[in-house]
Amino acid sequence: MKTSLPPGAYRPANDTWGSFKRLCANLPEGSLAVVDRRVARLHPTLLPTLKARNPRAVVLLTGGEVAKTFEALEQVVAAGLAMPRSGTLIAIGGGTIGDVSTVAAHLLKRGVRLIQVPTTLLAAVDSSLGGKGAVDITVRGRVVKNPVGVFHYAEEAWLCPELYETLSDTQLREGALEAWKMVASLDAELFRAYVRREPSLERMVKDARRLKESVCAKDPYEHQGLRRVLNFGHTFGHVLESVSRFKLSHGDAVGLGMLCALDVGRALGVTPEDAAWKVEDALHQGPGVLGRERTMDLLQRATLKDVTALLSADKKAGSAGELRMVLLTDIGIAVVRDVGAEVWRKLWPVWTRGERP
Ligand SMILES: NC(=O)c1ccc[n+]([C@@H]2O[C@H](COP(=O)([O-])OP(=O)(O)OC[C@H]3O[C@@H](n4cnc5c(N)ncnc54)[C@H](O)[C@@H]3O)[C@@H](O)[C@H]2O)c1
Ligand SMILES: [Zn+2]
Repeated sequence: MKTSLPPGAYRPANDTWGSFKRLCANLPEGSLAVVDRRVARLHPTLLPTLKARNPRAVVLLTGGEVAKTFEALEQVVAAGLAMPRSGTLIAIGGGTIGDVSTVAAHLLKRGVRLIQVPTTLLAAVDSSLGGKGAVDITVRGRVVKNPVGVFHYAEEAWLCPELYETLSDTQLREGALEAWKMVASLDAELFRAYVRREPSLERMVKDARRLKESVCAKDPYEHQGLRRVLNFGHTFGHVLESVSRFKLSHGDAVGLGMLCALDVGRALGVTPEDAAWKVEDALHQGPGVLGRERTMDLLQRATLKDVTALLSADKKAGSAGELRMVLLTDIGIAVVRDVGAEVWRKLWPVWTRGERP
């Protein structure tokens, strides 16, 4: 679909469901494709189908944070040098391929059209929508995630169910946790429906994308802080991810981070006990959040000083050093609150014992 908007400008999500083979028939010739190497191997017809559309170049990248480096970005941009301004970049992979490709699409020719083909559930429910892309940098031996980023909205997203068939249970859980995050914090009715009956993968992707889109549409470039509600579970999620040295996946970290946010909400009297219980129980029964003993294991390895440093480096920290956290006032209703350090410091010993405060 061609629109008159400049490439990358905000536009509502334009999702098409179908097999990759069917959707690829509409890919303009001369595109630049960035493909997760593993996806190409697991889905042997993917590259031949793509190549039948005469792409200018196909860049194979190894998925994972290694894809979000300046080296990988340079590789993509170099392959796109001869592309015209009217060209299209198509990103086929998980969130990491999507993120680096978004940055490349923004930079190439000062912006080319982008098609996202998310291949992980996490990318399908979250990262391939909302316009954000970023790469990581290494400062004094430590990887800093996402400091160099852009907004560049995709023109289209292709959702190809057959690509999700090769995801492991762990990968499915990671994506499901992000989907449940949106449902638990934004839509009470849907939350109750999910509790009654486990949603299919397709249902979950459609609902999560609709919910995320409804938030992004109100604040496409994050000028008003409205998108912060999407970060439920992310404050302590990021801490746990870092403390594990990124062995704990983002989705699992967000799952445990939601339990922490529910605890903080209860401690402040913001989240009613009953709502917190229901969400915690649903996260166990539904997507299968890891247990509090994982939080315990991870926090026991960390010092309070490290955690304080991680939290104050968090983009969500308030001006007086308090944490800007997303809390639930009820199921489906998220608010942003500044939380003083004394609140989580009191919960800390309980978390390090693996108990529910
Ligand atoms: N831009 C955003 O708004 C946004 C939002 C959330 C997360 N993110 C970013 O997304 C990244 C995480 O995304 P992710 O979890 O998709 O990670 P990923 O891209 O690293 O993929 C995870 C693993 O799954 C493999 N994989 C991909 N598709 C597969 C398939 N169909 N079958 C089997 N294996 C497959 C990949 O090769 C990789 O090893 C992080 O870098 C995070 O910062 C971005
Ligand atoms: Zn997330």
